[in-house]
Amino acid sequence: MMKPHVLILAAGQGKRMHSTLPKVLHPVLFHPMLHHVIDLGFSLHHSSVSVVVGHGKEEVKKSCNGYPKLQFFHQEEQKGTAHAVGVAKDFLKTVKGHVLILSGDVCLLRKESVEALLGTHFEKKHALTFATTHLGNPKGYGRVLRGDKGQVLGIREEADASSDEKRITEINAGIYCFEIDSLLGALDKIKSGNKQGEYYLTDAIALLIHEGKRVDGFSLPDAQETHGVNDRKALSEAERILQKRTNDRLMLSGVTIHLPDTVLIDPRCEIAADVVIGPGTQISQSHIHKGAVIEGYCRIHDCRIEESAHIKQGSYLEGSVVGKEAKVGPYAHLRPESNLGRGVKIGNFVEVKKSTLGEDSKASHLSYIGDADIGKNVNLGCGFITCNYDGKKKHKTVIEDEVFVGSDTQVVAPLTVGRGSYIASGSTLTKDVPADSLALSRTKQENKLGYAKRFRK
Ligand code: UD1
Ligand code: CA
Repeated sequence: MMKPHVLILAAGQGKRMHSTLPKVLHPVLFHPMLHHVIDLGFSLHHSSVSVVVGHGKEEVKKSCNGYPKLQFFHQEEQKGTAHAVGVAKDFLKTVKGHVLILSGDVCLLRKESVEALLGTHFEKKHALTFATTHLGNPKGYGRVLRGDKGQVLGIREEADASSDEKRITEINAGIYCFEIDSLLGALDKIKSGNKQGEYYLTDAIALLIHEGKRVDGFSLPDAQETHGVNDRKALSEAERILQKRTNDRLMLSGVTIHLPDTVLIDPRCEIAADVVIGPGTQISQSHIHKGAVIEGYCRIHDCRIEESAHIKQGSYLEGSVVGKEAKVGPYAHLRPESNLGRGVKIGNFVEVKKSTLGEDSKASHLSYIGDADIGKNVNLGCGFITCNYDGKKKHKTVIEDEVFVGSDTQVVAPLTVGRGSYIASGSTLTKDVPADSLALSRTKQENKLGYAKRFRK
C-alpha cells in the first residue's frame, strides 16, 4: 500500500475549552491529545508527519520536542480547516501522491481503522476518502449529505444546517485521505461564505464530486473512535473511552485490575501478566514486570517495577527502579533516581531521593534518605535522616554493606559509614565511621531521683 504523508491540524484555539492552554495540549490519559494523534501518524509505517500549529504555537511545538522528525507549518490566523491545510500547500506540491489529514482533537482513532480507510482509498482509486460514523447525538459535527441512491453529496456544518439536516445522524469525523493534486485544486476554490465566515475543508467534498472525481465516505463501525474534543466534557469522555480501552486490553492479557473504572493507566505502559493493580491507582510511562502487586491509591510515574515487587497502598513513586521482591509502602515516597535492589524494604512514611539501596536493605519506618548510597543488608532504624543539604549544596552519604543504624540517627553529609559498623540509637554523626566500629554520639543520661515527685507538689 502507498504511504501517504500525514498532516495534523492543530492550530485552533479551542474556544469552547475556556482555557489558556491550547486545546490540543490538554492531556488525555497523561499525554496531550495531540501526541496520541502524532503517535498514530508515526505508527503508520514509513509515514512522514507534520503538524499545522497556530494558537499557542511555541507551547505546542515545545511539547513535541520528543518527536525530532516532526515538521511544523504555521497558520498565523485561524481562518478554518481548509485555510489550515492551505499553509502546507507549497510543501504538499513537493510531496505528490496522497495526504492523510487528521485532526489534533480527534485522538481516539485506531491504527487498524486508519489502515482500513487507506486500503479502501487506494483500492478504489479515490480522490478523497473521509471517515464517517453514526451518532445517537450528532450535535456539533458536520453532517454527511447523501442523495437518493445513498451517494455522498457533501457535508453540512452544524452552524449552516437546516433543521432537517440537523436530524442526519451520519457525521464527518474530520479524517481525510486526499489525492494531493485534487486537494490543491479544491483548496483554490473553497470560499468562506458561510455562517462562521471560515474556509471549510469539508467543502472540498462537494467540489470534487462536482468535478466528477471519485469521493466516498468510509464508515467506522466504532463511533467512539471519531469522538472529537471541543469542550471539557468531551475531554473527560475521551479519557474515559481510552481508559476503558487500555484497561480492557490489559485485563485480557492477564493483568488483574480491581475497580478498573477508578484506575488510570497510560496506554504506553508495559504491564506484564499476573500483575495486580488496586483501585484508584494511576500509572504512567512505566514498566511493571510479572507478578508485581500495586495496591490501591498509588501514583507511579516513569518507573520500572521488577518481578514480584509489592507496592503498598498510597505510595507515590517517580523516576525510580524497584527491584525484584522489594516492598514499598504503605504511604512511601520514591523521588527521581531512587534505585532499590532486590528484596529491599521501604516502609511507611519513608522518603527516598536520588539514592541507591543494595539487596535486602531496610528502612521500615519514618525516614528521609537523600543523595545516599546504601550498601547491601543495611538496617536503617526508625527516624533515620540524611542531612544532605547545607543550604547551598547537596552532599552524599555512603553507608557500606551490613551496617546497622539504630533509630533516630542523623547523618550530616558528606559522610561514610564503613562496612559492618553499628550506629547507636539517637546519634548525630558528623564524622566518618571506620569499618566494624560502634559509633555513639549522644549525651550521657543522668537520673535525678525523686525530682518529678517534688516538682508535682
Ligand atoms: C470539524 C469539521 C466537522 C467535523 C468535525 C469532526 C470542518 C469545517 N468541520 O468541525 O465537519 O464533524 O471537525 O471532529 O472542518 N483547525 C486549524 N486551523 C483552523 C481551524 C481549525 O488548525 O483555522 C484545527 C483545530 O485545531 C482542530 C481541527 O482543525 O484540531 C478541527 O477544528 P475544529 O474547530 O475543532 O472543527 P469542528 O468544529 O470540530
Ligand atoms: Ca473539533
